[in-house]
Amino acid sequence: MQIGVFDSGIGGLSVLYEALKQMPHEDYIYYADTANVPYGDKHREQVRHCIFDAVRLLAQEGINALIVACNTATSVAIQDIRRQYDFPIIGMEPAVKPAVNSVPNKRVMVFATPLTLCESKFVHLLHQVDTNNAVDFLPLQELVRFAEAFEFDTATVTMYLRDRLDGYDLNQYGAVVLGCTHFRFFEDHIRSVFPKDTIIIDGNFGTVRNLRKILISKNDFHHGTGRIKYYVSGMEAADTAMMERYLLRLRQIESPPCASITNFMNTGKNDNE
Ligand code: DGL
Repeated sequence: MQIGVFDSGIGGLSVLYEALKQMPHEDYIYYADTANVPYGDKHREQVRHCIFDAVRLLAQEGINALIVACNTATSVAIQDIRRQYDFPIIGMEPAVKPAVNSVPNKRVMVFATPLTLCESKFVHLLHQVDTNNAVDFLPLQELVRFAEAFEFDTATVTMYLRDRLDGYDLNQYGAVVLGCTHFRFFEDHIRSVFPKDTIIIDGNFGTVRNLRKILISKNDFHHGTGRIKYYVSGMEAADTAMMERYLLRLRQIESPPCASITNFMNTGKNDNE
C-alpha cells in the first residue's frame, strides 16, 4: 500500500507523523508544494491548479490512497479530486464539532488560514455546529511562514500570537482548534499563551484513524515497509534531512497526552465524518 500525503508545505508532516504511528507498515509519498506555499492567502483558483498538479503526479506515482493533509486544500478542492480518482481520499477540516462538544460551557477558538475560514465549507460547518454562538476564529497565516522557515523561536512566535490575540479574553476559551496542519508545530507556543486547562485539538488522529479503517475494510493494510519518499513541487527531493528535522521537532513537542485530550483527539473530526 502506497499512501500519498499532500500539503502546501511541511504542515502535512504532522499528519504523516501520526500516520507512521498508526500505520507503520505502509509506504508513503509525502508531497510538499514548497514552490507554491503558502496556499492560505492566495486566490482559490490559483490554489486549485496547484492541488490538481500535485495530485496528478501522486496518482502517476501509483498511490493507492491519499491524505489531503491540508485544511485549505480540502476546503477548495476535495470534491473535485474525489470525482477524478477512484482511490480513497481523506481530507481535513477544523475539528470544531469535538471542540464544541467537549467544552459546552466555554468558548472555542479556531485557528486556520484566511482561505479556509472564508470558504463555504467552513461557513457551513460553523452553521451546523455552532448553535450557541460559542466559536470564534482567527487567521494566523504568519505561523505558516514561521513553520516553513523553521522559525520556532519562543519569543518571536509568542509575541506574534499575543499580538493577534490582543483584545480577546483568553480565560473564556475551553478549547483551541488547530485548523491548519502547520499549526501543530506551534502547539507548545499556543499552550503557553492560553490558560493551562484550555485543550488543544487537531484532526490528525481522527483523519489517520479513518483512513486506517478504510484500508482494513478493503483488505489493503500492512502491505508496505514503512518507506517514505519525499517530493517537493513535482520533483523527488534530493535532500530529505530537512523533512526529518521537522519530524524530530514533532517528537520533541509531543507531550504525553493527558487522558481527556486523548479522548478528544480520538474523536477528531475530519472531512469524511
Ligand atoms: N497546511 C495548510 C492547512 O492545513 C495550509 C497552509 C498554507 O499553505 O497556507 O491549511
